[in-house]
Amino acid sequence: MIAPYIVGIGGTTRPGSSGERMVRAVLAATERNGATTRMFGGAELSALPHFAPEDAERSDAQREFVEAVRAADGIVIGSPGYHGGVSGLVKNAIDLLEDLRDDRRVYFDGRAVGLVVTAAGWQACGVTLQALRGIVHAMRGWPTPIGIAVNTFEQQPFAQDGSLADDGLRRQVAMQADQILLLAGATR
Ligand SMILES: Cc1cc2nc3c(=O)[nH]c(=O)nc-3n(C[C@H](O)[C@H](O)[C@H](O)COP(=O)(O)O)c2cc1C
Repeated sequence: MIAPYIVGIGGTTRPGSSGERMVRAVLAATERNGATTRMFGGAELSALPHFAPEDAERSDAQREFVEAVRAADGIVIGSPGYHGGVSGLVKNAIDLLEDLRDDRRVYFDGRAVGLVVTAAGWQACGVTLQALRGIVHAMRGWPTPIGIAVNTFEQQPFAQDGSLADDGLRRQVAMQADQILLLAGATR
């Protein structure tokens, strides 16, 4: 059987971005269950030019990103709460997925999308998670029942060695990974 392919998108350009580490944690949990993964974190997302629908040309970085999502059996998106919403860096990458509009599996169609938000307060955690769910619905994806919100002001998700230190978050990461793989297994 071919391993499910899960693509992670998100985080910030900040070294040690908690959002990127959380998305990587979900990918790692899918890998433990047999998936192969690809991560587009802060560095890769900042290599994507500002999306312009009228541009006919695509850069190598843009093509690589679109092809990865096109091939994905499941997706994880992580955004910080920036001024009460999804960051421009993450939204720019999502907007580029307009290139999937004419695909048989348009946008995120038929794929589970795990969502992760990191913010310095619960209000931004909640509204940003809700905004991401709306985006995924608009793009015909299936947001997993488990959405993960981390309040980086109140929570210390990671230990010194980089492992996920919080039991509750560890459980949520494992559940989200299972839910992504469940739909991936049912639709392949
Ligand atoms: C430009 C900017 C805007 C932000 N706006 C909010 C906000 O509206 N609400 C909030 O709770 N935190 C806000 N934050 C804090 C970030 O959401 C928080 O630091 C988050 O952990 C950043 O993610 P990262 O750890 O992946 O870099 C903001 C941070 C920046 C840099």
